[in-house]
Amino acid sequence: MDITNRTVFIAGATSGIGLELARRFAAAGSTVIVGGRRTGLLDQVRAEGLAAVPIDVTDQGSVDRARDTILDSHPGLDTVVTMSGVMIPEDLRDGAHFSTAEQTIDTNLLGTIRVIDAFTPHLIARGSGTIITVSSGIGFLPFPVMPTYAASKAGVHAYSEALRAQLDGTGVEVSELVPPAVALTPEHRQHNPRALDLAEFATEVMDLLRANPTPHEILVKGVLMHRWAERDGTYDELVAQRSQALAMLPSRHG
Ligand SMILES: NC(=O)c1ccc[n+]([C@@H]2O[C@H](COP(=O)([O-])OP(=O)(O)OC[C@H]3O[C@@H](n4cnc5c(N)ncnc54)[C@H](OP(=O)(O)O)[C@@H]3O)[C@@H](O)[C@H]2O)c1
Repeated sequence: MDITNRTVFIAGATSGIGLELARRFAAAGSTVIVGGRRTGLLDQVRAEGLAAVPIDVTDQGSVDRARDTILDSHPGLDTVVTMSGVMIPEDLRDGAHFSTAEQTIDTNLLGTIRVIDAFTPHLIARGSGTIITVSSGIGFLPFPVMPTYAASKAGVHAYSEALRAQLDGTGVEVSELVPPAVALTPEHRQHNPRALDLAEFATEVMDLLRANPTPHEILVKGVLMHRWAERDGTYDELVAQRSQALAMLPSRHG
């Protein structure tokens, strides 16, 4: 895609990967609208010169209001990124995990679907556009500490594939961003020394997005081992390795 002249809405760009990609799209020449719940951060983003709208992707009314506001102010919107997500550990031996499971599916999977549903009629009507969904390496290679997170992201992958097939011929393309672990803060890096640097990750993502046609999957080098573990025969060994982190769950302590 041509990243220099797009009008891009990123739901879930008040922080982290979304905010970094918002800045990269803007720096490349595109118009960017940032979405999220934290109004203080939306104000900071506005102060940087980006547009911002409040949105809670778990609330259908909020999604519809955000859609109406954005299409009113930016009728040329041609790119929608469904970045909103939560990533919460769950101890499946503790029944209280179910509320985390609900929140995770409501945000990561149903939230993605709500945002796509809200904007797809507009994109189909204009006959061109790009939907960028956001899954995770964990959707392809589970991290057992976060079971519902893994399930939600595997769901986003499957949904993206079906959406692409359903939109074939409309001019609307679907691309799935599959991030590996990305360190948002120095503390994240300490916690997971293999996590990618956010700036380096974003540079690689923008380079991949520039390809024409836009790739079906945006796979930085650091995610290939997750994405292709099953094909490469490394899946069982890697899941066993990643299961060692289960020791951090409260029910495993004496
Ligand atoms: N960092 C990683 O290692 C990694 C790896 C793979 C995939 N990902 C995915 O990348 C995406 C961004 O995550 P991040 O790592 O950059 O974390 P982050 O800084 O916590 O960003 C999450 C974003 O989602 C938004 N969000 C959460 N719940 C929302 C809701 N109900 N409605 C609207 N927006 C909501 C947050 O905004 P508000 O709180 O302001 O609403 C925030 O802007 C997520 O989908 C995550 O699963 C991250």
